[in-house]
Amino acid sequence: MYSYWWILLTLSVSEGYKILVVFPIPAGSHRNLGDGYVRHLLKAGHEVTYITPFVKENSNPKFRQISVADNFKAINGQSLNVTALMSHQVELDQDRLFQLSINLTKNTLDNEAVQKLLNDASEEFDVVVAEWMFNDIYCGFSAVFNCPYIWSFPYEANFVSLGLIDEATNPAYTANIQVSDVPPFNFWQRAYALWFQVLSNLKQILLYENIEKEFYEKTFTPIVKRRGRNLPSYDELRYNASMVLGNSHVSLGQAIRLPQNYIPIAGYHIDDDTEPLPEDLKRIMDNAKYGVIYFALGSNLKSKDLPENVKNNLLTLFGELNQIVLWKIEQTLPNKPKNVHFLEWAPQQSILAHHNCILFITHGGLLSTTEAVHFGVPFIGIPVFFDQIFNVEQSVQRGIAKKVILTNNVDKDLRVAINEILNNSKYNERIKETSFIYHNRPVPPGKELVHWVEHVVRSGGAPWHRSPARLVPWYQKMFLDLVALIIVFVFVFLQTIKFMLSCISTQKVPYKKKIT
Ligand SMILES: *[C@@H]1O[C@H](CO)[C@@H](O)[C@H](O)[C@H]1NC(C)=O
Ligand SMILES: *[C@@H]1O[C@H](CO)[C@@H](O)[C@H](O)[C@H]1NC(C)=O
Ligand SMILES: *[C@@H]1O[C@H](CO)[C@@H](O)[C@H](O)[C@H]1NC(C)=O
Ligand SMILES: *[C@@H]1O[C@H](CO)[C@@H](O)[C@H](O)[C@H]1NC(C)=O
Repeated sequence: MYSYWWILLTLSVSEGYKILVVFPIPAGSHRNLGDGYVRHLLKAGHEVTYITPFVKENSNPKFRQISVADNFKAINGQSLNVTALMSHQVELDQDRLFQLSINLTKNTLDNEAVQKLLNDASEEFDVVVAEWMFNDIYCGFSAVFNCPYIWSFPYEANFVSLGLIDEATNPAYTANIQVSDVPPFNFWQRAYALWFQVLSNLKQILLYENIEKEFYEKTFTPIVKRRGRNLPSYDELRYNASMVLGNSHVSLGQAIRLPQNYIPIAGYHIDDDTEPLPEDLKRIMDNAKYGVIYFALGSNLKSKDLPENVKNNLLTLFGELNQIVLWKIEQTLPNKPKNVHFLEWAPQQSILAHHNCILFITHGGLLSTTEAVHFGVPFIGIPVFFDQIFNVEQSVQRGIAKKVILTNNVDKDLRVAINEILNNSKYNERIKETSFIYHNRPVPPGKELVHWVEHVVRSGGAPWHRSPARLVPWYQKMFLDLVALIIVFVFVFLQTIKFMLSCISTQKVPYKKKIT
């Protein structure tokens, strides 16, 4: 009897869940976010199937990869061309983002390997984790596998992510990553925030929604039917996420109200054990008497694509500094000064973790700013598009960064900013404070990630955590139906009185004044 229970117990602990992790965006930062889920879930003993364009070597029998490597071809090259973005020949506005996202979604779901997975009736999962990127179509995975799903949201919570599980945020005091204004807003900023939110919603309803719905139905109807069920409507399913696990934290963003099933887990992508630096790099950093400045533009925008004169001016600027400069650039430039080192590939986290790293020059992507806060290194942000502009503005307001605009004269502004940060200790003090708030959580974000994914499976989709607000239409939230009822009531009441008065006056009842 005793041994029987013991076997049951070890079985239930060691078995783990079957989890589908969907991160098909062919960009380095999104790979890091997806890899973070895979790493933590595998470590917790689960079986992970990973839809990714970045297939890696693997010998773990509990880990399977579904390659969507041809997603690289689905991205229009100009969308990430730093020269074109700099000169505003290309704007990464909402329409382009939607196009980009729908192209990628189509390419992912039409992919042969993904189709095979979806159509194989023997495939089963306990939960799906999908990265949300400007459309909700991946909710269809949960209909196929008849299991709950979780959105991974790559940015700070906003009206879009919270609208999926609760309700839109109030634009009067909530920043939106696509607008660079940081609250508290002045009158015009507040008006613009409202305009942006209303316009986005209108575009969603009038332009995008039908495209999404059509593709959702075309793709998933036959697959779900083959499994003997009917596809729920798009609206039913896309508001049925169990949780949003957000790549955000109050130390990096704003203190906004969050529903019970939004869990902020920023920083989970950073490995607890930082990889040691390669020997040569370690020696360079160990011996940097005046410290090290690390310059990297992220994985999408390449330093080598900067205009030639900009690269040469930057090299001259770096050569004048006392510090060692590590420049992540995919080429070598002529006339390299002694204190500058080109790195084709850079172990960013290990560099930031080194005690001699005193300044980080970055494009201001959320993962890079998160890592700067994690390792407590003040930074200069050179934002190029999308959330980078807001991330940097917000960090400037926090006093942990300076902002420099990417123009042909970027070296001049950069010189001023470097001097300011290195000469003024307040940036360093502020980033250490911010870093403390970031690290001082009851559990590390990776643990939280695993906990909530498991909770969703164990609780059958976490129905207790769901906000009732998502089922209430906006006019009911604003009590417009009640207002309408009151208006009707008052109108009827006034009409009745008017009618009665007119009856009285037409009856011409003899009227006698009562004398007292
Ligand atoms: C999306 O795909 C269409 C058709 O293939 C293409 O014309 C367009 O340039 C793509 N858009 C983006 C932003 O990649
Ligand atoms: C980037 O855009 C510029 C300007 O439009 C263009 O001249 C250049 O060829 C593009 N580079 C790539 C790699 O497409
Ligand atoms: C500090 O500022 C002075 C000018 O006020 C400048 O000459 C010097 O180079 C700066 N020091 C550093 C480390 O940037
Ligand atoms: C919504 O999620 C719950 C819990 O996961 C599930 O029981 C229900 O069937 C889902 N509804 C639809 C329409 O898929």
